[in-house]
Amino acid sequence: MAITGLLLCGFLVVHLAGNLLLLVGADAYNDYAHKLHSQGPLLAVAEVGLFGLFIIHIVLAFKLTVGNKLARGQGYAVQQAKGEGDGFGFGRPDTWMAVSGAVVLGYIVLHLIDFKLQLRSDIAYEGLTPFDKALAILKTPLSAIGYLSGFVFLGLHLMHGVPSLFQTLGINHKKYNNLIRIAGLLFVIGLVVGNAVLVGWANTRPSSKAAPANDEAHIAPPVTKTTEAEEATSKTDEAATAKGEQSGGTAAAEKPAEADKKM
Ligand code: HEM
Repeated sequence: MAITGLLLCGFLVVHLAGNLLLLVGADAYNDYAHKLHSQGPLLAVAEVGLFGLFIIHIVLAFKLTVGNKLARGQGYAVQQAKGEGDGFGFGRPDTWMAVSGAVVLGYIVLHLIDFKLQLRSDIAYEGLTPFDKALAILKTPLSAIGYLSGFVFLGLHLMHGVPSLFQTLGINHKKYNNLIRIAGLLFVIGLVVGNAVLVGWANTRPSSKAAPANDEAHIAPPVTKTTEAEEATSKTDEAATAKGEQSGGTAAAEKPAEADKKM
């Protein structure tokens, strides 16, 4: 569990670092997203690896929780009275880790529906740049509230998970335990605040700059391949338009209106 937990923390750091580019600007974030998606098979391997890590982590957690319950016969009725709380007042760590882990899993499902599967019917995904897509999603109340709640539970999960993984890996010395706890806490706060800032930032941007659903202004015109025959026709049209301009025709006057429609 410690190894999978550590690797998942690594993913969270890299993921947050990439997402913080939203604050730098549309170009920086879109470039990053483009580079990420142009990795081809490498990205696919990383995604399968990440998925595997989540599955192994969840299966091991499930085995640990059930194993602990069976070893005890049943869960403790009065956890705090036994003095076995995890120090944060949330009861026994295994119970609390299972509850917070389940909520984080719920958050991840919503997150994948939003970004990866793009199944939200209230978001007009087509043609949105990665930057506009992130803004449009983070601005919806469902994602804003769902994500912020998810981050809080992620923080609570990691508050026990991070010091615990150090212990499991044998990095455990009376002299350094306090330091590990403080460093772990700062790490967790950084992750939670970093992610929460993105939701806050998206929701304080004027909506005109974000990409609301069905806003044609943010939908790039479809890219179509031009065949040689079409190019020839287009050149003939241009010549005709130029002629029309010279003779005061209407062909040229129609063009700006067309362009406005696409913007
Ligand atoms: C506001 C904060 C966040 C934003 C803006 C964000 C954004 C994104 C985006 C754009 C993707 C899709 C990448 C792609 O198209 O390949 C993604 C994927 C993902 N995110 Fe997040 N994310 C955030 C926070 C988190 C957190 C806190 C977690 C974990 C608890 C997380 C877990 C994932 C996972 C597991 C994937 C799928 C990875 C993949 O298969 O590519 N994200 N996220």
